[in-house]
Amino acid sequence: MEQDADTRACILPYTLQQHRHQFERAEIVYLSIYVFDELAGFFILKLDSDHSSVEFRRVVIASKGLGIGQPAILAMEDYCRDQLRRNRIWLDVFEFNRRGKHIYEKLGYRLFDSRDHDGKKLLYYQKNITVQSTTDTSR
Ligand SMILES: CC(C)(COP(=O)(O)OP(=O)(O)OC[C@H]1O[C@@H](n2cnc3c(N)ncnc32)[C@H](O)[C@@H]1OP(=O)(O)O)[C@@H](O)C(=O)NCCC(=O)NCCS
Repeated sequence: MEQDADTRACILPYTLQQHRHQFERAEIVYLSIYVFDELAGFFILKLDSDHSSVEFRRVVIASKGLGIGQPAILAMEDYCRDQLRRNRIWLDVFEFNRRGKHIYEKLGYRLFDSRDHDGKKLLYYQKNITVQSTTDTSR
């Protein structure tokens, strides 16, 4: 999936050996995305040492533009909150990755930093995933 031209342009692909190494690390979480029992993509997450944040390191969808990525990201957020017990997700995305930027901003990620990476601008986004109470008991 990473070797697809439309994907490679947007990420820094790993070799199989790099994936195997990452897969063994306790703080790295790989999640598979299935659509009707078929593997459709994957996530790589990293548990930050602060015990409250997750680095959303990568999402790759094999068949793009079919509405798979956005609900998958929302499901991943639920997983981070409910299973991993984290309350913040952050990520970086190349500025030229308009599709990535679009979905992150649409899903509520907010820009908090930007840096240069080999002459390309990397944008840093974050989202608070704490459950918001719908009942105001303060009155
Ligand atoms: C980014 C990615 C995960 C999104 O998954 P997807 O299944 O293709 O996304 P969806 O079909 O749910 O949504 C795509 C959205 O991008 C929009 N879009 C597509 N091309 C776009 C472009 N060039 N500029 C802006 N928006 C664009 C679509 O209109 C759609 O938004 P909408 O629902 O508001 O109309 C997937 O395309 C992918 O794997 N890309 C390559 C790897 C990558 O960039 N990963 C993210 C950085 S780690």
